[in-house]
Amino acid sequence: MEVFDAVRTVLAVRRYSAQRPPGDLVRRIVEAGRLSASATNSQPWHFIVIEERATLDQIGRIMDTGHYAAGASLAIAVMIEKDRRIAVSDGSRAIQNMILTAWSEGVGSNWIGFGRMPALETLLGVPDSHQGLALLAFGYPAETIGRGRKKRKPLSEIASRERYGTPFA
Ligand SMILES: Cc1cc2nc3c(=O)[nH]c(=O)nc-3n(C[C@H](O)[C@H](O)[C@H](O)COP(=O)(O)O)c2cc1C
Repeated sequence: MEVFDAVRTVLAVRRYSAQRPPGDLVRRIVEAGRLSASATNSQPWHFIVIEERATLDQIGRIMDTGHYAAGASLAIAVMIEKDRRIAVSDGSRAIQNMILTAWSEGVGSNWIGFGRMPALETLLGVPDSHQGLALLAFGYPAETIGRGRKKRKPLSEIASRERYGTPFA
């Protein structure tokens, strides 16, 4: 899939089929996170790949805005170093790379939560040096989703040419 096509069609997927992504694809998704750029190349992240059903069930109970994570084939908890001011930006870039890499192979996902998630950190044995940034749930979509049909503000509202307020389009 072309990069722009992936960006254009990727959607939040919250219902997953029972078919599990193959191991080499899971590895590629994590690699997409590892290969991401970060400020001063600090790579202040740690990715925890969770495939055990019992842990996914527990995560579904913990995540207030993502109970559906219990139905995912796998989840990746993205932890970032606490003492790095820019780690949120770094981690977010890695997240987007992982989401797009999965999507390009037909695997849907969604970003759940934002910022510290103490219960998740405790469940996963995260050391005090790190904090949760997001929990990503992955799986093949349970149903066909409207590829490319997104609710977004028009370009005229969110982009300018040369100076703020001069219409770009
Ligand atoms: C930083 C961030 C945090 C999000 N947190 C949640 C969340 O906690 N639960 C959830 O179901 N979706 C979450 N989402 C997904 C958004 O709600 C979703 O991407 C947005 O509504 C647009 O929908 P679409 O991606 O299907 O176009 C989050 C997305 C981002 C970028």
